[in-house]
Amino acid sequence: SLSTQFLGHTYANPLMNASGVHCMSVEELQELDRSSAGAFITKSATPAEREGNPEPRYYPVALGSINSMGLPNRGFDYYLDYVLNRESKGDGRVFFSVAGMSLADNLAMLHRLQDSDYTGVTELNLSCPNVPGKPQVGYDFEQTQQILTEVFQFYKKPLGVKLPPYFDMVHFDTIAGILNRFPLAYVNCINSVGNALYIDTDLEQVVVKPKNGFGGIGGQYVKPTALANVRAFYVRLNPEIKVIGTGGITTGRDAFEHLLCGATMLQIGTQLCKDGTPVFDRVASELQQIMDSKGYKSIDEFRGKLQSI
Ligand code: DHB
Repeated sequence: SLSTQFLGHTYANPLMNASGVHCMSVEELQELDRSSAGAFITKSATPAEREGNPEPRYYPVALGSINSMGLPNRGFDYYLDYVLNRESKGDGRVFFSVAGMSLADNLAMLHRLQDSDYTGVTELNLSCPNVPGKPQVGYDFEQTQQILTEVFQFYKKPLGVKLPPYFDMVHFDTIAGILNRFPLAYVNCINSVGNALYIDTDLEQVVVKPKNGFGGIGGQYVKPTALANVRAFYVRLNPEIKVIGTGGITTGRDAFEHLLCGATMLQIGTQLCKDGTPVFDRVASELQQIMDSKGYKSIDEFRGKLQSI
């Protein structure tokens, strides 16, 4: 069985959508709710509704995707209404993502969540790479420490952070040292590999309009980076801080690798965009087949147990 315990809830499987994919509208969220995903998460909210960047702003390619969406979303109240009015509220299946464009915006939204009847998990996104002029908070260690210091002065509900990928061992050490000072529920590794460039060779032109074609890469391209980040944080963080693995999960084998590195929940972005919600049935059954062939009865038997040589 793929049954997974996470923050006091038991989920049928560890699979979720990655925030941003298939979760902008109530209709899309309801489709996730009806899918076989163990849990699901809302599109990152800002205090007010946003149109996002000009189109084309998402482009799928054989090995992944590039996007520069620019945080289009219906605004905080829309998602708060959704989670508070959802029929099965209290089951812990829906997570709430916030991505303020300033410290003040993030604090304002988290105060609203704290004061609301919402009892679920909140994901604070420190890693949106696509808003022109706004750096990714997760790459500024002082700002990361400051925002968490201010948040945990009042925020008492379960909170995780979505991190950008890191590429240097000293950065892993430094950011993990900061995160370990706070009562975080989890870290989610990774957001897209930011500000990359995909080119149409025939047209000799970029494929997304915003930022002269620069955008975040997801999919198969990023799996090794994602696995390294999951592993690096799993071995450095206090064991109370769980890890969500996101990045390059296309098959059950990719899911198995993320779990071996130490992930508890798993999020699917690019492949969900390509396949729709049936991706959860396929990846779950492929993961179950791998476990059966290896003789594992539960994910707990192998989670985090990646071997060194
Ligand atoms: C967007 C992209 C991200 O990677 C993210 O974390 C939040 C928002 C976006 O462009 O909409």
